Amino acid sequence: MKIAIVGTGYVGLVTGVCLAAIGHDVTCVDVDEEKMAQLGAGIVPFFEPGLDELLAVQRQERRLSFTESHEAAFSGAEAIFIAVGTPQGIDGMPDLRALIEVARAIGLTLANDAVVVIKSTVPVGTNHFVRELIAEHLVRPVTVQVVSNPEFLREGAAVYDTFHGDRIVIGADDEEAARLVEAIYQPLGIPVLHTDTRSAELIKYASNAFLATKISFINEIAQLCERLGATIEDVARGMGMDARIGEKFLRAGIGYGGSCFPKDVKALLGMAELSGYSFSILQAVERVNYRQRLLLIEKLVGRLGDLHGKRIALLGLAFKPDTDDMREAPSLTIAETLLKMGAQVVGYDPVSNTKARHVLPPAVELAPGAEEALGGADAAFVLTEWEEFTRPSFARLFTRMKAPIVFDGRNCLDAAVLGEWGIEYHPVGRGAWVQGTATSYLEKGRSR
Ligand code: UDX
Repeated sequence: MKIAIVGTGYVGLVTGVCLAAIGHDVTCVDVDEEKMAQLGAGIVPFFEPGLDELLAVQRQERRLSFTESHEAAFSGAEAIFIAVGTPQGIDGMPDLRALIEVARAIGLTLANDAVVVIKSTVPVGTNHFVRELIAEHLVRPVTVQVVSNPEFLREGAAVYDTFHGDRIVIGADDEEAARLVEAIYQPLGIPVLHTDTRSAELIKYASNAFLATKISFINEIAQLCERLGATIEDVARGMGMDARIGEKFLRAGIGYGGSCFPKDVKALLGMAELSGYSFSILQAVERVNYRQRLLLIEKLVGRLGDLHGKRIALLGLAFKPDTDDMREAPSLTIAETLLKMGAQVVGYDPVSNTKARHVLPPAVELAPGAEEALGGADAAFVLTEWEEFTRPSFARLFTRMKAPIVFDGRNCLDAAVLGEWGIEYHPVGRGAWVQGTATSYLEKGRSR
């Protein structure tokens, strides 16, 4: 099938490359000239494992092309996927300007019937709005249907997720349009759920908000573990063995970041408010997540006191491993707060040092390697569980610090190995049982 993809960010490019890989004839279009030139030359403009190789194969097989012309991309396309960014606007709701531009371009240039598939994460009701916008701008007598098809891929595992997704959600008010989208994905063999467009739009927000809730919940349990002398990994494992709960997204630490969870939680809260509903659980999820970002600093102050002049090394700046994405990375809040408290901050990330330079405060030093970052540091924070940091041989590098004190925001290091090197280790949610403090509520209960 001939398909056009508008927007070549994570979602658009990965979708384009993968749809080409299952046999479709795909043209990607983007207004960013530099990006189009890079992609035309086979260069992926961001770090995503496996994508370069797949892109190279599809270019060779001539099933994938890139253009800056909407008209050229839409010509003869049976489906037009919209995957432009919908970043958080100043009011907390997604900024739909790029999407509106694309809807206008479709109306003005489309010369054949087509199904428009919205992959961008958009507030409930946007599909209807886009359909009206396209209809207003149509200059030729063609039929356009709009279908909601939210994306669930994770950065760093985007290619894998596209081929092995749990479900494909197709929200449509027109049955024929829904069937066409189903046929596009058919070779993937992934279960398909058909809904109306509004439900499909809400599924995306509800899914991300639920996963964010799981993370904030386990982070609160981790806080209790520290106070009651329990071990978060054991508690999470025991909870996760219950199939009704599930083992995933129960890793405690410094909270969620990235381009989706923080933005989608905010947008869902905004939608609830605009509809006259106060979504209290989600408000708490957001509050807990922000507090978790400051957790390591609280612990550091508890251990070292005044931070003036103290040199703190941040290991891992991206919001998670296997990506260079710095959007809503906890490292940003942590670095800014440490600087405000008078500390010197030095950071290192195996992949995102360059991107980090543009978004971290200029006072943050960036080191070319972990060894350089750790040299002479008073304390180290592990903020991203990059594989490089979790190798047993890495532990030796901490001995280069002034005092080897490590706060692990992802519980990814091996306490026993660090112990062998004499390194002081502070994980999250592993409380030592202290008689009389952790269980003082029992005493209170007894004396009542
Ligand atoms: C997420 C969703 O998983 C995906 O379905 C959606 O389409 C986009 O948003 P992504 O943001 O790429 O994907 O990353 P993900 O792997 O889900 O992690 C999100 C954040 O949660 C990261 O900051 C991660 O460190 C954190 N996290 C995840 C935890 O703190 N604990 C966990 O147990 C899992």
